[in-house]
Amino acid sequence: MSFAELWAELLPVGRDEHTGGYWRFSWTEPDAACRGWFARTAASLGLRTDCDGNGNLWAWWGTPGPGSASAIVTGSHLDSVPDGGAFDGPLGIVSAFASIAQLRNEGFLPARPIGVAAFTEEEGGRFGVACLGSRLLAGLVDPDTARDLSDQDGITLASAMRAAGRDPALIGPDEKLLAGIGAYVELHIEQGSALDGMGAAIGVGDGIWPHGRWRLDFTGRADHAGTTRLPDRRDPMLPFAATALAARQAATDHGALATFGKVIAEPGAANAISSSVHAWLDARAPEASVLDLVVAAVSEVAAEAAAMHGVGFELRQESFTPLVSFDQVLRDRIAGVLAAAGQQAPVLPTGAGHDAGVLAARIPTAMLFVRNPTGVSHSPAEHAEPADCEAGVAALTTVLADLAGR
Ligand code: GLV
Ligand code: MN
Ligand code: MN
Repeated sequence: MSFAELWAELLPVGRDEHTGGYWRFSWTEPDAACRGWFARTAASLGLRTDCDGNGNLWAWWGTPGPGSASAIVTGSHLDSVPDGGAFDGPLGIVSAFASIAQLRNEGFLPARPIGVAAFTEEEGGRFGVACLGSRLLAGLVDPDTARDLSDQDGITLASAMRAAGRDPALIGPDEKLLAGIGAYVELHIEQGSALDGMGAAIGVGDGIWPHGRWRLDFTGRADHAGTTRLPDRRDPMLPFAATALAARQAATDHGALATFGKVIAEPGAANAISSSVHAWLDARAPEASVLDLVVAAVSEVAAEAAAMHGVGFELRQESFTPLVSFDQVLRDRIAGVLAAAGQQAPVLPTGAGHDAGVLAARIPTAMLFVRNPTGVSHSPAEHAEPADCEAGVAALTTVLADLAGR
């Protein structure tokens, strides 16, 4: 089973025919189709599949757990951001299956179990918490809080899982599963163009910037756009506008990144002042102390501007990932084995979040990146060349053979 065949099978699932982007929110129909593809592919490779209590999918070559040597797990996620690219997440899973197919063809006999994981709700696109599946697995999110998370239509995670045939009572940490894993290696498209600048098809991850998401609620008063005098308005859009500009300024001042990519103005009438504006700040910085400064600066401007316009303001953190430095021993071993195989793979950091970054708190993790010639990601325009995807599979195959070999 080649990478190209596997890729072509998954490609139509959840694709918007107008934009070419992907809508693969967790526990929706496209997600079920992705899960079906995962199960069929794993079965055709002779792998045993399983879904853990948090909805993460697993495909096993060998049996992990106490008594067996620790498993080597690879994988990524199948969910997408709204109108996302084809590669962010699926590249890691398709590459994992393609590598296993190649190892099987070569007659490789793993001394350690090899697993493929598809973590659920990595993007937080439906329920707001990024890397929710891996955070729950690692015990980093309270199960009751997770069950109560709701999507834009007020559907809770618990009811979405129930509707998909899963039991939300099983949500929570899984120490037994984690204890059976010796290392997690995630292959991912690069979400930047550093590799292209270096002329390299693949790279090895060094670490991930601290990053998080904050929800800002501005509460004003709905009123008529044509009759309400300007001094009488309590318009939540105005403090939001000032806050969006402040975020850009704070990011510039501190060498960080800050983005408002999601804004909801309610009730959403073109001829009315909004009653409320809800906005999500995504902020990332090279150090946690710098990130704190950025969020504090944004919050201060938001509070001042809200008060000036007679608008209520609340801010709350929805998710946070501290600075991640991938396991140095694992990283050096991977870089070494790739170099020995003639696969040039420079080491590079990233500002993007990954399940590997979450799991790094509990087990040795590493990442492989595949060149993205434009650097564009979280967009239908995201792209990687087929030859680079093949190079990614070759690198992952080399790494799995080394880590799971005798
Ligand atoms: C995931 O791609 C993230 O960095 O938010
Ligand atoms: Mn992403
Ligand atoms: Mn991703």
